[in-house]
Amino acid sequence: MGTFRRSLGVRGPFSKSSRLCDKKQYCQAATEQLTGTFTPFMEMLQNRRMEASRSVLVQVQSAQSYKQLFTYCESMGKVKCMFHYTEGPEPMHFIIVEFESESDVANVLRSSSHIQENHSVPVASQFLWFRAASKKFGTLKASAQAKLTLENGTDVRNENDLKAALLRCNTVSEQIEQLHSLTKLNDVGHRLRFLTAKQVETTISGMFPRICAFPFGSSVNGFGKMGCDLDIVLRLTQDRENDNSRLIYHCKAASGSERSTNQRNMETIGDLIHLFLPGCNQVRRILQARVPIIKYYQHLTNVECDLSMSNMTGIYMSDFLYMMGEIDPRVRPLVFAIRKWAKEVNLTNSSPGRWITNFSLTLLVLAFLQKPLQSPPILPTLNRLAKLAGPNDYYVTEDGIDCTFLRDLTKLKFQTQNTSSLEVLLREFFEYYAQFDFGAKAICLNEAVAISKPEHSPLYIVNPIEKGLNVSKNVSIEEVEKFKIEVRNAAWILESKERNYESTGLIAILDSKDHIKNKLPFVLSAKNNRLMEISELFDEEERNSDPNVEYKND
Ligand code: GTP
Ligand code: MG
Repeated sequence: MGTFRRSLGVRGPFSKSSRLCDKKQYCQAATEQLTGTFTPFMEMLQNRRMEASRSVLVQVQSAQSYKQLFTYCESMGKVKCMFHYTEGPEPMHFIIVEFESESDVANVLRSSSHIQENHSVPVASQFLWFRAASKKFGTLKASAQAKLTLENGTDVRNENDLKAALLRCNTVSEQIEQLHSLTKLNDVGHRLRFLTAKQVETTISGMFPRICAFPFGSSVNGFGKMGCDLDIVLRLTQDRENDNSRLIYHCKAASGSERSTNQRNMETIGDLIHLFLPGCNQVRRILQARVPIIKYYQHLTNVECDLSMSNMTGIYMSDFLYMMGEIDPRVRPLVFAIRKWAKEVNLTNSSPGRWITNFSLTLLVLAFLQKPLQSPPILPTLNRLAKLAGPNDYYVTEDGIDCTFLRDLTKLKFQTQNTSSLEVLLREFFEYYAQFDFGAKAICLNEAVAISKPEHSPLYIVNPIEKGLNVSKNVSIEEVEKFKIEVRNAAWILESKERNYESTGLIAILDSKDHIKNKLPFVLSAKNNRLMEISELFDEEERNSDPNVEYKND
């Protein structure tokens, strides 16, 4: 049986002095996390949006160009900080320059120009390139150099490096912390996503001065990893406008239904992105889906984008998930471990289909943390958060969806007594869902107990915000059976005392598909209650996979 190797000094996110493997420290850390520097989601979103408004993204020749760029920019405004990153195999170099104020960016953009000789569309945006100059620059002052950070903002960590880092950990809990800290979206990753959203907003703001392009989903809810996509909801106007004004804008009447108007608008915005936005390509319009979206790739920031123009519920859902992650320091690492496991055992898939999504998996983890099997809850229910809501937490969308719940976690009167380590929680997660009655019960984050299924979808996860909807309506019976088999296998591997293979802990469950294929010849198929050869089961799953099913369909 493999044993954990000594750590080579790689430390997890909780290890300022020691790790959180000491049980009491989990409770203490949860309390500190709440009473410390908690920033409510909307404030965080606003701060990041302002940061993007004060920033430009500049393509440069090399990292050394920062000296020239810094001096040049300082002649037009006050540089707050700069971030260098590279992109692509023959690396292109980029520097994000953040200024002290938005007016500095306006100065920079006013003084920037277009290349006259080629046939490019002369769009002005915060995406620029820096023309090389022959002038030599000496060394910058230390105070100026301190403003530059070199951070890899776009690269996804190599799997072998990740595995090596996990092998160096002493315990499964450390592995889970390590996985989280090595793969989570970093500061440059966040900045690039907010700049990408800002680009669309700026382009259309002439006609729609109150436009907002809000990032939502994993880019902002704290569950994003490096390379995650950017979900944007584009709102042409604010929800709360001044109703008392006596001067009203003349506007064109919309022709057709709200949905068809929305589809037409999105088609036009898709054209604008395709024709005019620098760096944006591979524009695809998926306008017949329940929530119409435009997909595109921004290659200067290396971000895949999904843009919709629906209501604000996606934002409030992100708010809720963000808060759940803020309540206890074990939540995000555990979600990362489960998402990684699900990817490795092929439960999730990057193309839409009848499989479980990362979003549904996150809800499964949160639901488990609200009601673990043998220990006290780590997370409160949404109903409890709704009861604690104050006047500033009142949010109802224009179509009447109530998204009111407590936003300021320092007012949350909830302190968990649960001291379980991440290792224990990981194992309990698998045990919890190994015995969950998916046939009769729905997973519900609003209530303290699992509720009966309102209808017969194979997997029913109540949408916490729009309670009449099932977020996992797309998931087929075969995928639910596969999930049940995989959680049992993972629980078995983590509990197994006599592992006769090399990988350990988290790596064992991440490699479990290969392991099970090689070592366990048969499994009990939950579908037809007969022993199936494992390869037969995997073949059947591959046959059943249908990549053409749209997933956002609840
Ligand atoms: P990754 O992109 O996989 O990292 O995670 P994500 O949470 O961003 O998922 P995704 O991009 O698929 O969806 C973005 C957001 O849309 C989610 O965080 C949810 O808020 C929302 N969403 C996704 N799928 C559904 C769904 O089936 N129903 C509802 N109501 N919302 C969904
Ligand atoms: Mg996403």
